Amino acid sequence: MDGNGRWAQSQGHLRTLGHREGSHAVRRIVRAARRLGVQALTLFAFSEQNWERPAPEVMALMELLREYLLTEREELLENGIRLRAVGRIDRLPATVRDVLDPLMAETAELRGMTLTLALSYGGREEIVDVARRLAERARAGELDPREVDEALFEANVPSVDVGRVDLLVRTGGEQRISNFLLWGAAYAELHFTERLWPDFDEADLYEAVAAYQRRDRRFGRVTSADHEPHPRAAE
Ligand code: FPP
Repeated sequence: MDGNGRWAQSQGHLRTLGHREGSHAVRRIVRAARRLGVQALTLFAFSEQNWERPAPEVMALMELLREYLLTEREELLENGIRLRAVGRIDRLPATVRDVLDPLMAETAELRGMTLTLALSYGGREEIVDVARRLAERARAGELDPREVDEALFEANVPSVDVGRVDLLVRTGGEQRISNFLLWGAAYAELHFTERLWPDFDEADLYEAVAAYQRRDRRFGRVTSADHEPHPRAAE
């Protein structure tokens, strides 16, 4: 969700005001995605690397997150939206965990759409965490290292629980993946837009989805396929 800082600075405001405006865009896009019938929406709200930002900005982001979770509770419940979080959420302050954890539990059975917040998240960190967990299981004698293959590894990647990434949208003119959903996005279609996140609206989301619909997804094969075969798709 890039461009909050630039949006604010271009209007002579502090970067934190851009994040506030960005949280309004989150509301708008969650609603729009639900209306469109998107099954899973994952928002990169805070990266592992974002902890390095100035303390007041980090604190403002945590406060916004708490505010968002408190004010959106009704909306999530009414619209059947399940809330999840991926990342090293144990690093989040108690003020966020105190609202995040109960809301995830309360919405756990809802299936209208899954909204995942990537918080204190990094794609490499997630992969390293999976490797560590598997290594620990092997050391404990619960897993034979020869059993570790792509399917078993993937089954342990939390962000892939909702499926692999079909479309990855990056706002703010940057054309990078920047450590987002690295495992699941291996065959994602990428959509880059100059629009700054606070300005990103329903029409921009539709444009991204329409662009996605025109792509020919081949997954390394020669014929086109509607969907990448997913080991857990048959479940
Ligand atoms: C990147 O833009 C954005 C962030 C690091 C924070 C994103 C957070 C929100 C949109 C609001 C809080 C989240 C929720 C879920 C309510 P940037 O600051 O790097 O902007 P720049 O590219 O213009 O510098």
